[in-house]
Amino acid sequence: MSETLWYKNAVFYELYVRAFCDSDADGQGDLRGLASRLDYLQSLGVDCVWLLPIYPSPLRDDGYDIADFYNIHPDFGTLEDFKYFLDRAHELGLRVILDLVLNHTSDQHPWFQAARADRNSPYRDYYVWSDTPDRYADARIIFLDIETSNWTWDEQAGQYFWHRFFSSQPDLNYENPAVQEEMLKVVKFWLDMGVDGFRADAVPYLFEEEGTNCENLPKTHVFLKRLRRHIDEHYPGRVLLCEANQWPEDVRSYFGDGDEFQMGFHFPVMPRIFMALATADRTPVVEILQATPEIPDSCQWCTFLRNHDELTLEMVTPEERTFMWNTYAPEPRMRLNLGIRRRLAPLLDGERRKIELLNSILFTLPGSPIIYYGDEMGMGDDIWLPDRDGVRMPMQWDDSPNAGFSNAPADQLYHAPVEGVVFDYRTLNVAAQKADQGSLWHTIRKMVAMRKTTTAFGCGELEFLAPENKSILAFTRGCQQEVMLVVHNLSSTRQEVALDLLGWQGAAVKDILSAKDYPPVGPGPYSLNLEPYGYLWLRLQNA
Ligand code: BGC
Repeated sequence: MSETLWYKNAVFYELYVRAFCDSDADGQGDLRGLASRLDYLQSLGVDCVWLLPIYPSPLRDDGYDIADFYNIHPDFGTLEDFKYFLDRAHELGLRVILDLVLNHTSDQHPWFQAARADRNSPYRDYYVWSDTPDRYADARIIFLDIETSNWTWDEQAGQYFWHRFFSSQPDLNYENPAVQEEMLKVVKFWLDMGVDGFRADAVPYLFEEEGTNCENLPKTHVFLKRLRRHIDEHYPGRVLLCEANQWPEDVRSYFGDGDEFQMGFHFPVMPRIFMALATADRTPVVEILQATPEIPDSCQWCTFLRNHDELTLEMVTPEERTFMWNTYAPEPRMRLNLGIRRRLAPLLDGERRKIELLNSILFTLPGSPIIYYGDEMGMGDDIWLPDRDGVRMPMQWDDSPNAGFSNAPADQLYHAPVEGVVFDYRTLNVAAQKADQGSLWHTIRKMVAMRKTTTAFGCGELEFLAPENKSILAFTRGCQQEVMLVVHNLSSTRQEVALDLLGWQGAAVKDILSAKDYPPVGPGPYSLNLEPYGYLWLRLQNA
């Protein structure tokens, strides 16, 4: 595979700098701290780190409200610290992508300050204004729990301004060519610094148009193609990852003809993996992937189980949402907007087999997987914190005070690390799990390694098998000479399954995770017996 297509077979790791490691004992993680932990990421085996926003910000939305696109938040360090971190990462063979927030700024950004202060300022037209709150009435509200309108009256400006997220995040006006130029400059600045690409935040909402829902508009694609051209011309091999929380057919358009985004999150498959587990029935996963259009060869999906936001339930039916809430968020406090504010391990009651099973699905389905920091050891959360803070807790390094995250006095930490019966940092931490060869951490590490050395997972065609037993999710991934047969048992009981492996008669079968040989494929159906929540990664080799 050519070097510029590195993302097609990469494992990503998403992390929040504030939560990772504090180098200067102020209670906040920072870039020097992160740099000192890069060997950890290398030992886990991931290829690329995605950092949540690191720019100056009043932090009303944890940095997604940017006040200066060209600097580093002082809590995290300086531009020199960033360069130091980036160079160390590259020395270790790790790539780094940044969050690129195109859609909006903070209301503290000097552009907005100038815009609201003076109708004649050239910055006025950097934002979207109106004398009434009635325009674009068909656009939905995203942060439902907090916002009641996408328009907010600004006293100083004497007009309403438009925002798709918090009212502290005014939307930029992409109809204004100057705004487009500004954002291309931002992109250039960070690419010149050497970053390997961007996770582009909230791209469906760049443009507005009366009579539409103001999402995925043609003009948005025109601008994004321009952005991609700009990158390809000067920085080949850098990646653009699209955050469009949309149905697959709508996300499809963000890949263009291979001339827009190289990567896009597959949002709808995520809740369906949880649904399949809860019902012990593969149908939701199979149906959504069968309804997922083909994407150009140079492109790749990006898959995840959890991230820094609530587990979004936007891409499910109302009935499915109710089911997900009842099953995975029985306490009202666990719900947020149209989602669930819990981490992976608590969602699965800390059950090791379920955590492994879902990771196995993540690592073997099409798409490059993303691990959310801490989920590799089954970290917990705190649903009592506001907004999404409870899934952004300090990384649990060891059992020392502050979980080895910081040397600050405990009361100065941005949050205390997770305590409690099941997920307490004194028992659940990196040091303990690294020392125990049987830990979840070692299992995930093995999955990362196997995923990376098995080309079929990166680029292989997906073909579902259709055994009668619906609690079995089985598929093949084939690429050139390599074919993997992956089998998952979604149920809590042992399951027998007979798989139709037509065309494979005589093939040798080996589980690449346990290195165990299975009987070769015979003339009839291939019988397997899977443990509760068991999974097998079987390599098929023609004799
Ligand atoms: C990010 C959120 C953020 C929002 C507004 C989302 O897509 O993932 O964390 O609050 O964009 O920037």
